[in-house]
Amino acid sequence: MPDSAWLDSETEISLRRLLPRLIEKYAARTTAADWAVFERRLRRHYPRLFRLLVSVYGERYDLLFHIERTLEIAAEAWLARPADLKELDAARERDPLWFQSNRMLAGVCYVDLFAGNLKGIRNRIPYFKELGLTYLHLMPLFKTPAGNNDGGYAISSYREVNPALGTMDELRDLAAELRREGISLCLDFIFNHTSNEHEWAQRARAGDPEYRNFYFIFPDRQMPDAYERTLREIFPDEHPGAFTPLTSDASPEKTEWVWTTFHSFQWDLNYANPAVFTAMGAEMLALANVGVEILRMDAVAFIWKKLGTNCENLPEAHLLIQAFNALCRIAAPALIFKSEAIVHPDDVAKYIHPEECQISYNPLLMALLWNSLATRKVRLLTYSMRHRFALHPETAWVNYVRVHDDIGWTFSDEDALQLGIKGYDHRRFLNQFYTGRFPGSFARGLPFQENPKTGDCRISGTCASLAGLEKALKEETEKEVELALRRILLLYGIVLSIGGIPLIYLGDEIGMLNDYSYREDPAKADDSRWVHRPRVDWDQFERRKDPHTLEGRLYRRLRHLIELRRQHAVFAGNRMEVANTGNEHVFGFVRPHPQTPVTVLANFSEQRQSVSVTLLGLPDTITDLITHKTWSVARGLMLEPCELLWLQPA
Ligand code: GLC
Ligand code: GLC
Repeated sequence: MPDSAWLDSETEISLRRLLPRLIEKYAARTTAADWAVFERRLRRHYPRLFRLLVSVYGERYDLLFHIERTLEIAAEAWLARPADLKELDAARERDPLWFQSNRMLAGVCYVDLFAGNLKGIRNRIPYFKELGLTYLHLMPLFKTPAGNNDGGYAISSYREVNPALGTMDELRDLAAELRREGISLCLDFIFNHTSNEHEWAQRARAGDPEYRNFYFIFPDRQMPDAYERTLREIFPDEHPGAFTPLTSDASPEKTEWVWTTFHSFQWDLNYANPAVFTAMGAEMLALANVGVEILRMDAVAFIWKKLGTNCENLPEAHLLIQAFNALCRIAAPALIFKSEAIVHPDDVAKYIHPEECQISYNPLLMALLWNSLATRKVRLLTYSMRHRFALHPETAWVNYVRVHDDIGWTFSDEDALQLGIKGYDHRRFLNQFYTGRFPGSFARGLPFQENPKTGDCRISGTCASLAGLEKALKEETEKEVELALRRILLLYGIVLSIGGIPLIYLGDEIGMLNDYSYREDPAKADDSRWVHRPRVDWDQFERRKDPHTLEGRLYRRLRHLIELRRQHAVFAGNRMEVANTGNEHVFGFVRPHPQTPVTVLANFSEQRQSVSVTLLGLPDTITDLITHKTWSVARGLMLEPCELLWLQPA
């Protein structure tokens, strides 16, 4: 970082030069009042944007040119921003912690698998409202290559909806209608890479030097080999290492190498080139103007590369996300970022800040919930949540049980060692357990990217199949079915009450099981994640209304928990204290509140368990919000197998 006094004066000087040019070019194209709003935000956030870009690109001779382009993009986006979104901007500035409300509930689904197309999604709005959603993440829906496109995560254009799903106009209308119904639209910002069919990639392939510099293209294996010495393999089944051979249209006889962290058709963008930041900034603001309120920042860990490192979580990655954040505060302040960092918990935490990503997936809680189900013990969960749950008060976790990706065991080995657990061995056990290979396991999952070289493996499978429902139904024992339902409710009950935004992978609420039919589709067969991305059968959803069906039994109980969360303000915000239950099978925590704190207890074992009322400091009489049962705790407190309690002073 350059000297701060010098930077202050440079910030001012540069704005003094750039602002009159912006005014001349754009101010007359809107009303004086509208321009004044933009200029006020620009003056307020420009210093931060400038400093961040200087920190990343200070060495570039042409930096000021790129900064000017960035401001032009901001002004153009502001002029194009619809009036209702400008109103939303102002509302969010008045209430920046809107996402901490206890009414918040997120859902995620694929447009095609859940409802066919965007029109179908629109028709499902009554269902989303019935469930209680206030936030809907639609999986990538933009133009992609045909065949395998990583479930839409290989984007060929951010300005075109995949024609099979609908049009840009339909997307805009859907966003507006969701907003009217109290539901914020979340879409992915896949900014680490584009597809190999994106216009920029096509131009690079044709030999255009401007666009070749958008990517990492090497003439031979020298640099790729040097980088690969310290890189982790993400999808080794699809291609080893991180590079893909490339023959350009200009010289088909020669093979070059392009950086592809994920699949061979996903080309990593080169953010060392400031033109990439500007170009992606324009795509981001265009998404904001479509009506997206939450951007899921895909694969944040990977966006900056440096020789000799693992090229994950580098300091520049943070500075760049902060610069995108500052750009939003200027031109689309309603937009917030959700971080997708599925990495070591120390690194996950570093992306979460009001000036970086306001909200973040909580992969640690997710992984440790499944860990506790398998081991029936809560030590690691208790220890980790005690040390790693607290966040900056102006941010929030997105707590989830599962999403469209595999489950990786991303707990901290250092934490585990404190408790005498060896990370490597323990992960092996968890993989055995969740693939159903461990004797007596209730889980029916599949391995994902099993790597015989490293013993590494992640887990695919729907929530219900991993929690034992698939096996129980096959064996037709009512006791096991009920236990599986309780396990699902235990995990979701924690996610709904622990603090932050709960996220439901739609289909989990009716217990959707694994779908093995992906094996017959050549574009999907090699990717076991498709086993937990079933196509929705709406007849099955209809059964939720009948309490005698399995769907009805689960749905009714989950809906009840959602309703309770909405009614009780104690569930808002992040504050949470892990409790000592005195029982290694029972996880406990308190949501503090001056009058009506809630103590959550979760029994991860299939046996009845007692807890220590003295250690928990419970008052003499307590009520369970879920069942309305009241106890006098003088004689102790027992939990049924896999039972969840939300206790309040009676
Ligand atoms: C994210 C997505 C995952 C995808 C990857 C590459 O991790 O969640 O599904 O494969 O990014 O875009
Ligand atoms: C790796 C990445 C994560 C991505 C996942 C996809 O675990 O760290 O970002 O979501 O692969 O399977």
